[in-house]
Amino acid sequence: MIIAPSLLAADFTRLGKEAERAERAGADWLHLDIMDGQFVPNISFGPGLVAAVRPCAKNLFFDVHLMCGQPEILLEPFVKAGADLLTVHVELGEKVPSLLWKIKSLGKKVGLAINPPTAISAVRPFLDKIDLLLVMTVNPGFGGQSFIHECLPKIQQADAWRREKKRAFHLEVDGGINRQTAAECARAGADTFVAGTSLFGAHNLKAAVAQMRQAAEANDPALADLKV
Ligand code: DX5
Ligand code: ZN
Repeated sequence: MIIAPSLLAADFTRLGKEAERAERAGADWLHLDIMDGQFVPNISFGPGLVAAVRPCAKNLFFDVHLMCGQPEILLEPFVKAGADLLTVHVELGEKVPSLLWKIKSLGKKVGLAINPPTAISAVRPFLDKIDLLLVMTVNPGFGGQSFIHECLPKIQQADAWRREKKRAFHLEVDGGINRQTAAECARAGADTFVAGTSLFGAHNLKAAVAQMRQAAEANDPALADLKV
């Protein structure tokens, strides 16, 4: 199980220190939300910020989530900045095949994301071209939103296709993830958990990471009731 704190919920006055804190807290990945104010109604940060944070968390895998209408102009700058995986949205339609190919040709891991309203069948043609499928569990654009339970059957379906095709892509969930919803998503087949508010907002980040991992590994929502 992979735990990926989302830097969007960190203290923006000290993002390098926050990345370092996530590494020391035992996180596996750092999730970086890139919002362009067009694909989603919010703006976050760009390649310059990612490059500045990269040396502060050398051992963390940089999971870059591109919520952007024109990711094709941003792939190389984020690769130069230190991204390990780049995720684009299937809602970009006919651009998707060339984007997935381009990320792979840049030597990076390939991620594909799907928004809550989009039918899971939209990603099926691409399952043999990706290293990660991101099932959004909130509508993208902001942290601190509530988990959308209607997304759970999409995770189950994606997991079923993954088994059927004997694929090994990561099944990532993002949005409203805490110990309880992480356990529910793990039970549905997820193995990679992005969380902002419930990790960077926790009193004790190290304990919060450990308990989210425990709840996910145990697939048992009851474990999620443990107090930090
Ligand atoms: C939302 C982003 C998420 C967000 C998660 O569009 O993709 O990564 O930061 O934040 P929480 O865990 O607070 O919902
Ligand atoms: Zn995200």
